[in-house]
Formats: sequence, C-alpha cells, structure tokens
Amino acid sequence: MKKTLLALALCSGLVQAAPIELKFSHVVAENTPKGQMATHFKTLVDERLKGEVEVKVYPNSQLFGDGKELEAMLLGDVQMIAPSLSKFQKYTDKLQIFDLPFLFNDMAAVDRFQQGPQGQAMLGSLEQYGLIGLGYLHNGMKQLSASNPLKVPTDAKGRKFRIQTSDVLAAQFDKIGAVPVKKPFAEVFTLLQTRAIDGQENTWSNIYSQKFYEVQPYITESNHGVLDYLVVVNAEFWNGLPEGVRSELKRAVEESVTYGNQVAARKDKEDKAAILASGKSQLVTLTDAERGQWVAAMKPVWQQFEGAIGKDLIDAAVAANQ
Ligand code: LMR
Repeated sequence: MKKTLLALALCSGLVQAAPIELKFSHVVAENTPKGQMATHFKTLVDERLKGEVEVKVYPNSQLFGDGKELEAMLLGDVQMIAPSLSKFQKYTDKLQIFDLPFLFNDMAAVDRFQQGPQGQAMLGSLEQYGLIGLGYLHNGMKQLSASNPLKVPTDAKGRKFRIQTSDVLAAQFDKIGAVPVKKPFAEVFTLLQTRAIDGQENTWSNIYSQKFYEVQPYITESNHGVLDYLVVVNAEFWNGLPEGVRSELKRAVEESVTYGNQVAARKDKEDKAAILASGKSQLVTLTDAERGQWVAAMKPVWQQFEGAIGKDLIDAAVAANQ
C-alpha cells in the first residue's frame, strides 16, 4: 500500500526523486588545475542540473588516495576521478607513452598529440575495464626537486626519488643510477621532510601546493616529462544515466577541462614564481650541454618500452613537436 502511494506521488510530481549523487575524488589541493577543474564542474552541474545531479568533490586524498581511487571507482564507491596518466599502467600499456622522458618539447605538443587521432583513440582504450575516458586535463611539465643540486645525471646517482606507480618512470631513474621509490602522493611531503627519500619529480603547481619546496632546497628546471590527467567515469554509472543528463554532464566536463587547462597554464608560471620568491628553494637551470646529458642518459627508456607502447604511437607523439 505504502509503495503504491509513493509510486502515485512520484508520478503526480508530488514527491521529487532524490538527485543522482556523483562523487568526484582527487588527491591534489583545491587550488591546483585539477582541484579547480573539479570545483568548476560542480558549479556548472549545480547550475544546470539542479535537483537532478548532486556533485560532491573530495580533494586532498580525503576519500581515496591514489593507490585506491581507481579500484574504488570500479566498485562504484566514487563515480568520477582524474588520476594522472601514469597511474593507468595496470589497465593499459598505451598511456605509458606520456611517461617517456623528453618525448614532448612543451605543453602545446602534448595538447596536439592528445587531440590528434591517436590521443583520442586512447580515451576509449579503458572501456573494457569498466572505465570511460572523458578527456585529458593538463597539469604541466615535470621538474626535479632534491636535497642536493642536480646539474648532471651523475648528481642523482644512488639517491632515492619518489615516483608514481609507473614502470616507465622507474626505468627513467634506473637509467641515471638513482633509486626509484613508488609511493602515494599523500606521503611525499613526509618522506621528503624526514629525508627518507632525497627527491621527487613533479609540476610547479604540485611542488607549490604540497609545500615540497619547503623541504627541498633545490629544484632543477628540467621539463623532462609531462604530468597530465585523464578524467574517467565508471562506465556502468555513465551508461545508466538518462540521455539528457549524460549529455549535460559531458558538456560540463568539457567546459571544466578547458577551464582547468587555463588554470594549469597560469599556475605553472605563478607557482614557480611563488616558490622562487619564498627563498626556500633554489632554482637550478641547465645549460644546453647539461640538459643534453640528461636526455642521453634517460632516452634509452623509449626503446625499452617501445614494444609495449607501440612505435607508431611514439612516432606520432614525436611528430606532435613540430
Ligand atoms: C603525483 O602522484 O605526483 C600526481 O599524480 C598527483 C596529481 O594527481 O597531480
């Protein structure tokens, strides 16, 4: 009887159906490209799908750290995440292309490759695992921070560097005789502060927002790799949405990615300037000859992973530099 009354009330519009809950979990601070993208997405959805979809954003590994967020999404505990491309190794070898050192000259080249046919095809490569890639989001080029000045690769020899969970990144540090240590993002500050590790690689915005620069006296502006994200949703959740809601959400993701990319470009400069102004960390710049040594030492990683990633894909990425 009660059920019949509720059904009648729903049909007659007397009782509103509860909004669909969309949890967006991430590991960075709010004032970062990804943090701002997520907040912007929530704002757009609040405006456009009021009462239909409720977005809840959980920053700073509050809900799930980077070791758990992909599994949590597959279990349906969170509906949207944007892990860095380095964290998809378990699902596909292809995305590891983004970890190859010295592959892209700058973010414009990264963008050209991502928006080109090969980059777009990779968005769908995770569907068989229950994940749908909605789009790439930029953070920026990675720099090397350390407790000693890193001018040439031998300066890193025997030193421990935190890396994301990627075998390409492990190989990159192996090649220079350093010790790569795979650790979750949320642990990096403490590891650096306690000197359990000597350094790490990250973008200016992550080095700034996580305060790594306060415990790392030197930052080498190496621009040796890229740190970007893939905005992904749980396929079952996404495919189960009413068509109109799904297309509005897709539009909101696209607009927030554009917004996040603008934040990324701005913060890359601003956060670098703020770090240098703090006087806590010293900038190490490389001469062409010094940079050449890093390239020569790290680039053999390409060949090591060519079979897994695919030569065609690597060639297309190289071509995006022109
Ligand atoms: C890292 O683990 O260093 C980054 O992937 C964190 C992030 O999401 O930017």
